[in-house]
Amino acid sequence: MVQEHEPNGAFEAPQSADEALEPTATRRIADDTESSRASRGWWDRNADEYQEEHGAFLGDDRFIWGPEGLDEEEAGLLGPADRLKGRDVLEVGAGAAQCSRWLAARGARPVALDISHRQLRHAQRIDTGAPAPGSSGIALVQADATALPFRDGSFDLACSAYGAVPFVAEPVRVMREVRRVLRPGGRWVFSVTHPVRWAFPDEPGPEGLSVSGSYFDRTPYVEQDDAGRAVYVEHHRTLGDRVRDVVAGGFRLIDLVEPEWPSWNRQEWGGWSPLRGGLIPGTAVFVCEQD
Ligand SMILES: C[S@@+](CC[C@H](N)C(=O)[O-])C[C@H]1O[C@@H](n2cnc3c(N)ncnc32)[C@H](O)[C@@H]1O
Repeated sequence: MVQEHEPNGAFEAPQSADEALEPTATRRIADDTESSRASRGWWDRNADEYQEEHGAFLGDDRFIWGPEGLDEEEAGLLGPADRLKGRDVLEVGAGAAQCSRWLAARGARPVALDISHRQLRHAQRIDTGAPAPGSSGIALVQADATALPFRDGSFDLACSAYGAVPFVAEPVRVMREVRRVLRPGGRWVFSVTHPVRWAFPDEPGPEGLSVSGSYFDRTPYVEQDDAGRAVYVEHHRTLGDRVRDVVAGGFRLIDLVEPEWPSWNRQEWGGWSPLRGGLIPGTAVFVCEQD
């Protein structure tokens, strides 16, 4: 039980695994409440498989922005690594807190936040095996990114590798919350599925290369159970929508990085593959600063 290991306080118990054994995929509206509930349940049920499948690629203490393998070690999107020392950093949708571990190794003070109890259990599992330098483990918080449980001005930086932002109905709420908890001038860097991907089938092979739907259709992708309850939700925003969310959240966009697929990366990750990666962008990384 997670409560037996409490460097970061107790977490809520995971949702039961009785929901939707065979969900059906559709496109329909899903509000923030339904989306958060679905995300929590889905990631609790699928965290083991996710970490099993992608843990080695992510590395226990690397900071990887997405399936292309863009590494913060080289990218420096948070600023120079030698300036991370002593800085308070919030990682949003941290999963097993791999990025936070990289930050801690550079002297930062990360807090890893995620809605999923089971994802955070994986963070504890890794920390139990190899604690971050100078600490007994990364500080972990189970919470929804749309309502951050921190005081105003608690952090110098915030980051997120595919965490939370693609899964919430109103991403501007996340932007505003992140801005609130950042100190003046704070930087916020987050990656999401590149919006253009939504016009293509989510397939790694040639079938994923032909447009199959409108890029402008913002109707969420929803997997739902027999009772019509969402068990997985992902939200599409166009590139322009994302920029407007950032600005409405009180940030300035200072860079938009579209990582190219590197030749060393031969692995597929869902619909991301070397084939598609050489032709269309798969990830968008937004580098923002408090306005
Ligand atoms: C694709 S995983 C990315 C995890 C990690 N950043 C990584 O790179 O492996 C998405 C993460 O976002 C979390 N998440 C989804 N919706 C969330 C929300 N509303 N608030 C906080 N975390 C959320 C999920 O639980 C999951 O751990």
